[in-house]
Amino acid sequence: MRYGHFDDANREYVIETPETPLPWINYLGSESYFGLISNTAGGYSFYKDARLRRLTRYRYNNTPLDMGGRYIYLRDNTASDSARAWSPSWMPARTPLDSYECRHGMGYTIIHSKRNGIESQTRYFVPMGENLEIWELTLTNQRDTAADLSIFSAIEFNLWDAMDDSTNFQRNYSIGQVEVVDDVIYHKTEYRERRDHFAYFACSEKLAGFDTQRESFLGSYRGWEDPKVVETGQSANSIAHGWQPIGSHHVRVQLQAGEQKKIIFILGYHENPKDAKFDPPESQVINKRTVLPILSKYLKAAEVDKAFEGLRSHWTNLLNKFQVHTPDEHTDRMVNIWNAYQTMITFNMSRSASYFESGIGRGMGFRDSNQDLLGFVHLIPERARERILDLAATQLETGGAYHQYQPLTKRGNNDVGSGFNDDPLWLVLAVAAYVKETGDFGILNEPVPYDNKPGTEEPLYGHLARSIQYTLDRLGPNGLPLIGRADWNDCLNLNCFSDSPGQSFQTTTNKDGKVAESVFIAGLFVLAAKEMAELTKHVESRKSKVNLTFDLRPSTYYLDAASTMESTIWKAGWDGEWFRRAYDDFGHVLGSKENEEGRIFIEPQGICVMAGLGVDDGRAEKALDSVNVHLATPHGVVLQQPAFSKYYLHLGEISSYPPGYKENAGIFCHTNPWIMIAEAKVGRGDKAHDYYLRINPSAREGLGDLHRCEPYVYAQMIAGKDAATHGEAKNSWLTGTAAWNYVAITQWILGIRPTYDGLQVSPVVPGTWSQFEASREFRGVRYSIKVERSGAGNQVHIEVDGNVIEGNVIPLPAENVKDISVRVTIK
Ligand code: GLC
Ligand code: GLC
Repeated sequence: MRYGHFDDANREYVIETPETPLPWINYLGSESYFGLISNTAGGYSFYKDARLRRLTRYRYNNTPLDMGGRYIYLRDNTASDSARAWSPSWMPARTPLDSYECRHGMGYTIIHSKRNGIESQTRYFVPMGENLEIWELTLTNQRDTAADLSIFSAIEFNLWDAMDDSTNFQRNYSIGQVEVVDDVIYHKTEYRERRDHFAYFACSEKLAGFDTQRESFLGSYRGWEDPKVVETGQSANSIAHGWQPIGSHHVRVQLQAGEQKKIIFILGYHENPKDAKFDPPESQVINKRTVLPILSKYLKAAEVDKAFEGLRSHWTNLLNKFQVHTPDEHTDRMVNIWNAYQTMITFNMSRSASYFESGIGRGMGFRDSNQDLLGFVHLIPERARERILDLAATQLETGGAYHQYQPLTKRGNNDVGSGFNDDPLWLVLAVAAYVKETGDFGILNEPVPYDNKPGTEEPLYGHLARSIQYTLDRLGPNGLPLIGRADWNDCLNLNCFSDSPGQSFQTTTNKDGKVAESVFIAGLFVLAAKEMAELTKHVESRKSKVNLTFDLRPSTYYLDAASTMESTIWKAGWDGEWFRRAYDDFGHVLGSKENEEGRIFIEPQGICVMAGLGVDDGRAEKALDSVNVHLATPHGVVLQQPAFSKYYLHLGEISSYPPGYKENAGIFCHTNPWIMIAEAKVGRGDKAHDYYLRINPSAREGLGDLHRCEPYVYAQMIAGKDAATHGEAKNSWLTGTAAWNYVAITQWILGIRPTYDGLQVSPVVPGTWSQFEASREFRGVRYSIKVERSGAGNQVHIEVDGNVIEGNVIPLPAENVKDISVRVTIK
């Protein structure tokens, strides 16, 4: 069953019924002010940090699941039936609508509905450069008689710290404060003391009333589905003193037959200078001088239109950096629109705020953010640069890394700490990707501190060297890297041995960690060390140009380290038909024929082949064939087999999940693109693209009732074949799947990838594809690429502006050249 359709020309997904299997959400905002919004206008907003600066309240795991959001109620004042009030977004009133449509676009959502001849359209978005969101409601009276309507807006304010807000009631029920001045509602809890920020909620119309106290609006013992005020048509004009501050405007409109009217609401965040918080200064009244100009600007329809156009063109410019036209619509749609969009959302949110991540629990992951960068670096190179420097500044002097940091403070998070031994290696991949994309070798010279401690600064390149060294300093009995608390698989906790309920698998360590080793980290190390060698080679040859302040180890140092690790993998990490996964604290192998459960894992097959192991001697193909036989399903490739049927003290969280879910043999989508890349590496384009389509959300659109999550973005997990709900997706939006799939399809299947010396074109596409086209901006130059097949292989022959070139890397053009046309023939 389908619940909607793609409108590719508008870059929108159009949801045709409010009753999707799960809330299907979108994100508003792309700089500092953000919101989550569902197809029924549920969700919440925050400034920069979903935990520490939450503007509106949202109760996770609610009943119904999605209750609370940016709500509007319409009340037909002349109707006499009991159902005279409705929500144009269907929720929360759930009054039946005559029509409904939700369009999720790039940074905006438009909900359109009709009831009894009253048509409404609400456009929600955050203007570029502003810390506010706009809800623009357009009402049209399609009746042949006049309509007398009341409009009520409703949001519930959060008392800023979302964690405290949902737990510390003895204090919080007494601190809520608001002001209502000139029809604007200001939420100023804690403004009297240490906060210099407040929220405001304004409306373009003269108000017939307002409310700021939740129970005055709802009525005791009532919920958002039928507020008392909406029922009676009379606001209570309540002022919140403690309890639960809300914002609700009441606007009364008369619409003649055929008449249309726009009503604008804006919800925003504002900071005042610390010494100018109050007006008059000795009072406790918010100084509104700096906020009023912003308010009056965006309460004008023309400004709203202008801002919306600004947002649209922002996205057009971003997405135009890479567009493709292939024989497969799912590839086009994801590459050109949704996958790129999702990588930007992971840039903004990391893993903090989605409908599955509460915005409270996790900061920015070191490993996650470095991988996310691989997907968005070509879209926003300047911000990727800043992200790299922020991440590196949380690295420790040992070369290790805090596993997470808080975006507001940019400091490493002590609660989770460090010791995830794969973490630092991802920084090497991120920096290499950034320099290949931009040619900005200067970043390697940027002084970056360790653990944000002034005085410890070292050029970024030194951080990379320490990342590599971190692994070399921590090798185990077989010469493989020690796993620490976990590697990429957060749930493979080989030093944890936790038998007490409630302990964190990620931070509990009952073993000294000197035995358990990871083949995955070994493979990742080979990949990173080879990247380091290549980067270093380019640095060596440019030494005079970039004025390096650090001593280089020769590139051969890293190549040797990579090749030593390769030999170790072949010795201790190869099982005959696939790569092994790890050695546990007893020195026993995992991910081997010798195991009863967990005989084969996906991660080392992907990463080792990506690192080049076995690509020339058939062993890579063998490993990938094993993946196909043991792990592949029609819904994607599962993480391991056989699933763990019980809890293994020495394996940790992985065996805590019921079989088929999450890391215990779920289709953990993040790992699937590694297999696609590996298949491309061994030249099997059909297989690579086949795996690509299995988890491609657009290709799964028709499976709506099974898949259940949004058909326009990747989910972290699809239940594996051992699960009762095989094929069901969970944890949509914030997942490394977004970046890696983008890399797999664009760089390895379509084969268009940045290198230090130019743009490489080396497609490994399905045999049935006779051609495709791509347009890619690379270092300020537009490459128009036409690829045609004239044989069954993957050999390429390239002409650049009519001239044949050697190999498959298009050399960087002279400075004045801005457009390049490339013809590629695959034989
Ligand atoms: C989650 C984490 C990620 C980890 C993965 C596998 O997605 O965010 O860091 O690699 O799970 O455990
Ligand atoms: C849980 C999840 C895993 C995630 C980890 C992060 O263990 O299963 O996917 O990476 O939490 O804290």
